[in-house]
Amino acid sequence: MSFKNHAVVITGAGGGIGRAIALAFAAEGAGLVLNDLADSLEGVADEARRAGGRAVAQRGDVTRPADMAALAERCVREFGGLHVLVTCAGLGSAGLLVEQDEDAWTRVVDVNLNGTYRAIRAALPPMMAQTRGRIITIGSVLGRMGGYGFVTAYAASKHGVIGLTRALAYELGTQGYPGITVNAICPGYVRAGMGVAMQSTKAGPMSGEEIFERYYKRQVPQRRMMEAGEIAHAAVFLALPASAGITGQALNVDGGFVMS
Ligand SMILES: NC(=O)c1ccc[n+]([C@@H]2O[C@H](COP(=O)([O-])OP(=O)(O)OC[C@H]3O[C@@H](n4cnc5c(N)ncnc54)[C@H](O)[C@@H]3O)[C@@H](O)[C@H]2O)c1
Repeated sequence: MSFKNHAVVITGAGGGIGRAIALAFAAEGAGLVLNDLADSLEGVADEARRAGGRAVAQRGDVTRPADMAALAERCVREFGGLHVLVTCAGLGSAGLLVEQDEDAWTRVVDVNLNGTYRAIRAALPPMMAQTRGRIITIGSVLGRMGGYGFVTAYAASKHGVIGLTRALAYELGTQGYPGITVNAICPGYVRAGMGVAMQSTKAGPMSGEEIFERYYKRQVPQRRMMEAGEIAHAAVFLALPASAGITGQALNVDGGFVMS
C-alpha cells in the first residue's frame, strides 16, 4: 500500500492502458480521480474500488480547459491534494498525411499534445502549492521514431508530448520545484486499447495484432506485444518516493524496440 496518502488523477482512464494504470494505483491504496469521455469510465472506477482504491469518476474532455480545471479541483476536494497526474487520454490516427484533411491532423494534436498540456496546466497549481508531485505523460515509441508510415499526425503529437515532458522537467527543476518530476512512458505495441483496434493500412483494414505481426514484430527483440500491466508497473515505479531523482526522462516499455 505504497500510495495510501496519495491522490492520483488519470486522464483517459476508461481506455485499455488507463484502466491498467488505475487498477495498479488502486491496488496500492491510492485515492483516484479518473477522467474519460467514454462510458467505460464508471466501470473502471468500480473495478478500482474493488481493487482497494478510493476512486471517483469525473467525465471530461481533455480538449476543454474547464474540464481539466474541474478534474484537478475535484481531486483536491476529495483527497486534500493532487500528488500524481498520469495523462493517458489519446487518439490514434492512421492514414496518409496527404489524404487527411487539416481537421484530422488538428484533432489528434489537440487531444494527444494539447490535451496533455491542459491536464498538466490544471494540475500544476496544487502540485506547486505542495512543492511535490509526479507528472507522468504517456508518449509512444512513435514519439521517438517515424514509424513505418500512416502515423504522421500521431507520431508528431507524441514527439510533442516528449518535448513538453523534457522542457517542463527542466523548468520545474530550475524554478524552485525540484520535488515535482515530469517523465514520459513510451509504450511499444500494447495488447490493449488502440494497440488492438482496427486501423487502416496500405493493405486495407487490419487489427493492431495483425499490424504488429506483419510490420513491427521483427524489429522488436522480445518479439512480443507489451501487456497493459507492464505500462502500469512503469507508472507506479515513476511515482514511488525512491524515484525522486528521475525527471525529464522518456522511458521505453517496448520489448527493446527503440534503444535510446
Ligand atoms: N495501445 C498501444 O499500443 C499504445 C502504444 C503507445 C502509446 N499508447 C498511448 O497510450 C494511451 C492510451 O491508449 P490505449 O491504447 O489505452 O487506447 P484507448 O483508446 O483504449 O484509450 C484512450 C482513452 O482516451 C480517451 N479519450 C480520447 N479522447 C479524449 C478526450 N478528448 N478527453 C478525454 N478522454 C479522451 C478515450 O475515450 C479512451 O478511453 C494513449 O495516449 C496512446 O497514444 C498506446
